[in-house]
Amino acid sequence: GLPGRVTIYEVGPRDGLQNEQAVVPAEVKAEFVTRLADAGLRTIETTSFVHPRWVPQLADAEQLLDILPRSPELRYPVLVPNERGLDRALANGVTEIAIFGSATETFARRNLNRTVDESLAMFAPVVERARAEGLWVRAYVSMVCGDPWEGDVPVEQVVSVASRMMDMGCSQLSLGDTIGVGTPGQVTALIEALAGAGIGTDRLAVHFHDTYGQALANTLAALRAGVTVVDSSAGGLGGCPYAESATGNLATEDLVWMLNGLGVETGVDLDGLAATSRWMADRLGRPSPSRVVQALSPG
Ligand code: HMG
Ligand code: MG
Repeated sequence: GLPGRVTIYEVGPRDGLQNEQAVVPAEVKAEFVTRLADAGLRTIETTSFVHPRWVPQLADAEQLLDILPRSPELRYPVLVPNERGLDRALANGVTEIAIFGSATETFARRNLNRTVDESLAMFAPVVERARAEGLWVRAYVSMVCGDPWEGDVPVEQVVSVASRMMDMGCSQLSLGDTIGVGTPGQVTALIEALAGAGIGTDRLAVHFHDTYGQALANTLAALRAGVTVVDSSAGGLGGCPYAESATGNLATEDLVWMLNGLGVETGVDLDGLAATSRWMADRLGRPSPSRVVQALSPG
């Protein structure tokens, strides 16, 4: 069966814009987030409190949070890699954070300048302090279906890193197929293996990239396995600056089109969302890669 409702965790402003060549002004980002909220999205990952030299596109995190309109019904999680990032997030009134680990050594090194063990040691005090402050904490694990340098990633390796992160006290685990190589059988096997390790679908989210055109098929496999939280990026923006061959995320419009057709509720107004992605594409100077945005475009 399928869930009656899916929660869309929108990552366009963060995962999308972190990978754009152009540095988008904070005012434009704020308008983007506001338009996404107007289209019905309720959870919008807005930015990252990472080192500004590592991701210059998100160096304006403080400025953005300062001008974003707040509302009790909107959740604005941000990425936080370390205690310095947590200090910055707390100073800016953040109430939801995400730590982001890697299933592979090479990506941990390239993305976090740490081994897997060292990165987990970096996250532990972040989660402990964040929880003591009453924050909600998500854990991402990247490269869950394959790694550009290491190739296939054994399921046990993903389960091991995920379990260590969830044991720190995170509330949600997002499975990142960072480079979009995964296929539905792999997704189902991974979700089963996690359930075997005590991480049920009630705590899972899936985060697919569409590099090989598999994102929607993988999403449907995850929904059939019981997952109800899906990450996606308006207009299919994004990738990851430290992962070779990572192209855009699953487009939120493509996801909503499929879910509308299946009768699964999302609360998202597809036309309003597609108009937002066209507006953003104009700002970025290139068309949206989303098939649904293209199909819904006038003319
Ligand atoms: P490092 O160079 O090892 O940092 O980077 P450090 O701990 O040695 O500190 C060096 C200096 O940086 C210090 O300053 C720190 O204060 C400062 P100094 O004392 O020399 O003057 N510093 C900071 N400044 C501001 N904010 C901070 C911060 N931390 C340290 N948070 C670090 C380690 C983790 C910081 C770095 O590697 C980093 O920022 N990495 C983030 C890269 C990133 O954001 N990548 C994209 C994420 S997307 C992803 O991972 C995949 C995902 O989308 C899911 C999927 O698709 O699968 C989530
Ligand atoms: Mg991503």
